Amino acid sequence: MQRDSFGSRFGALVVIAGSAVGLGNIWRFPYMAGTNGGAAFIILYLVFVALICFPCMIAELMIGRRSRSNAPTSLRALAPGRRAWDWTGKLFIIIPILVLSYYCVIGGVTMEFFTRSLGMNPPSGNWSPVVWTAVFLLATGLIVVFGVQKGIERFSKVMMPLLFIIVILIAIRALTLPVRPGAEYSAADGIAFLFRPDFSKIDGKTCLAALGQAFFSLSLGSGVLMTYGSYIRPHDNLAKTAGQIAFFDLLFAIIAGCAIIPAVFALKDNPLAILSDNTDSALVFNILPDVFPQMPLGSLVGAFFFFALILAALTSSISQFEVPVSYLVEEKGLSRTVACAAVFCIALVLGMACALRPKVMSAFDGLCANWLMPLGGLLALLFVGWVLTRGDLSDELSSGGTHKVGERFIAVLSFAIRYLAPVGVIAVFLSQLFS
Ligand code: PHE
Repeated sequence: MQRDSFGSRFGALVVIAGSAVGLGNIWRFPYMAGTNGGAAFIILYLVFVALICFPCMIAELMIGRRSRSNAPTSLRALAPGRRAWDWTGKLFIIIPILVLSYYCVIGGVTMEFFTRSLGMNPPSGNWSPVVWTAVFLLATGLIVVFGVQKGIERFSKVMMPLLFIIVILIAIRALTLPVRPGAEYSAADGIAFLFRPDFSKIDGKTCLAALGQAFFSLSLGSGVLMTYGSYIRPHDNLAKTAGQIAFFDLLFAIIAGCAIIPAVFALKDNPLAILSDNTDSALVFNILPDVFPQMPLGSLVGAFFFFALILAALTSSISQFEVPVSYLVEEKGLSRTVACAAVFCIALVLGMACALRPKVMSAFDGLCANWLMPLGGLLALLFVGWVLTRGDLSDELSSGGTHKVGERFIAVLSFAIRYLAPVGVIAVFLSQLFS
């Protein structure tokens, strides 16, 4: 049977950007940037994406495309007979399942808020988070079961542009909110909060916050880029695709920032306290539902906002779901439908634990975002830098000689993959240990 692949380079671009653009961009980035020095944080973020995340993206995409198979099989095929890498491959099945199992809880909450923003009043009880989690997981599985091109790519091609348009419209609405009589702040102060560079805030902690944000936001170290890399057509340009995804992910985060932060400043009395207090998803789920109704056309804006959030979450959760599905199909010989059902059941059981026990959920999040994903990224870098050769790298960058790549670009990227990026990731690890 012929292996599925993305239909076009544009298809690959929107699908991978869909994985990258998610809840991380909408609630985490605006808050992170605002409280960590505004534009100074954004500059730092850019530097890290260029020096550490871009090489890591190339490494992961290239592992997948080189062997054209799921993540564990790729590592085994590219390093035959090396048991350690065989074991490492399993990690790239465990990580996306763990991420999926709490991501789908947040996705479910988003769906619940969406129905409320439409004026419906769904029954709520102790078990309702579990029911919403199941609904969100089911929606994810129903997209994945149709396959890479007919399910994932088709969904992303329609929904990503829609998501982009909605968020731009909400940003325009937020930026044009009138100043409230007697209010201390206005929407313009929100923009200043987000973009005024405050270089005095830059220290070791901010650097790490920027690197961690970049890692999570680009779905690095989770097996997703390897799996999606395996669906990129052999002649498509990997470096260009990776660069465009990183650019789009940041652009989206900035637009989402312009949609959220100015609204909080224009409509709330204590925006600074609200923003500096938010270390979790409270901004999106506690503050914003209360902010929207205060603005003209508020209920419409609120409904659109939660709809956009559902789209952003779904295009990310399908990527997490696809990683184990591709493994079960290719390695265990299951049909796609059975594989999807199996992943649904496993994620639902774990998701139930997260939905009913917030402590389990934050433990999963901490474990994945702070430890397992950077570890996965580090292993992918070491694999490409030290197991594969520079010839492999240049072959992938030129897509087997289809396009020209400068020797200097290959040399710089090879240095980044072998030394610079791994040292960067290890620095994050050490700082977590000692903080
Ligand atoms: N990048 C996604 C976001 O920003 C999260 C994600 C993590 C997606 C790991 C896939 C894998 O929300």
